[in-house]
Amino acid sequence: MTTIREPAYAKLNLTLDVLGKRPDGYHELCSVMQLISLSDGVELDVGTGEDWRLETDREDVPTGSENLAWRAAGLFYKTLGKDPQGIAIRLTKRIPSQAGLGGGSADAAAVLKALNRHEGNPFSQEELLCLGAKVGSDVPFCIFGGTALAEGRGERLTRLPDMPQCFYCIAMPDFSISTTTLFDRVDQKTLTYRPDTKAMRAALEAGDLLQAAGQLCNALEPVVSREHGDIAAIRSIMEDCGALGTSMTGSGSAVFGIFDAFDMAAMASMTLMEKCRTFLSRNV
Ligand code: C5P
Repeated sequence: MTTIREPAYAKLNLTLDVLGKRPDGYHELCSVMQLISLSDGVELDVGTGEDWRLETDREDVPTGSENLAWRAAGLFYKTLGKDPQGIAIRLTKRIPSQAGLGGGSADAAAVLKALNRHEGNPFSQEELLCLGAKVGSDVPFCIFGGTALAEGRGERLTRLPDMPQCFYCIAMPDFSISTTTLFDRVDQKTLTYRPDTKAMRAALEAGDLLQAAGQLCNALEPVVSREHGDIAAIRSIMEDCGALGTSMTGSGSAVFGIFDAFDMAAMASMTLMEKCRTFLSRNV
């Protein structure tokens, strides 16, 4: 039996645009994404000689084959055509669930990367991204990392210049959102709050943090904030603490602010702590 470990990094959607509904039921997206240091710990025992099992330290996380980490491991060995002779997965969860931070996708991406390394890299990066896309729309980006433009379902990735160094304060309101439910409620005709993806790309190409922070925009945010005043309230507190820009990430409900100084991000985190769970993070 071999034990392997891999960090599973969360993602932020710096911009998120919804371009339309596709015949397959998914939505056509265009999103500038960033991998951040907030992470889960993923540990795998390969070759346990026992039934597959998954353990986590958080009650709301499924421990069966519906967990994306389990599905990723299953798909990896099925595609490889090999029986690993038993796998045990342990997840140390720090990324909140149903937050728009890609927690489940991050774990699945970490499993695919770790198993590929363990087996001597049988799959190319491109093949690993394709496997990831079968597990979930955000998994390919979590494998790809850095700063990237995600299109299609989220699986078509283009490398962008790195987001300039900064500090993120992330706040998790006391409600969470199912991605499926939220996308079901999206009415394309009423989406008027849209990012300027070109302007965000230009800001990244110029390496201009202030300009990039000014371009944060998530087309899904009004759908959530219509019913949850907390989103606007959190953004306002972050702005009062000196955030250069704020937004909801993904399908929510987590909100993040961008700061150029750590002490300001920490101040925002401490101010918000009374109201919600907060996290401080950086680019990976
Ligand atoms: O791909 P994944 O399983 O992570 O997606 C979860 C849900 O989010 C999908 O079932 C779908 O309802 C919605 N979704 C979408 N369009 C995307 C990505 C996700 O409608 N591009």
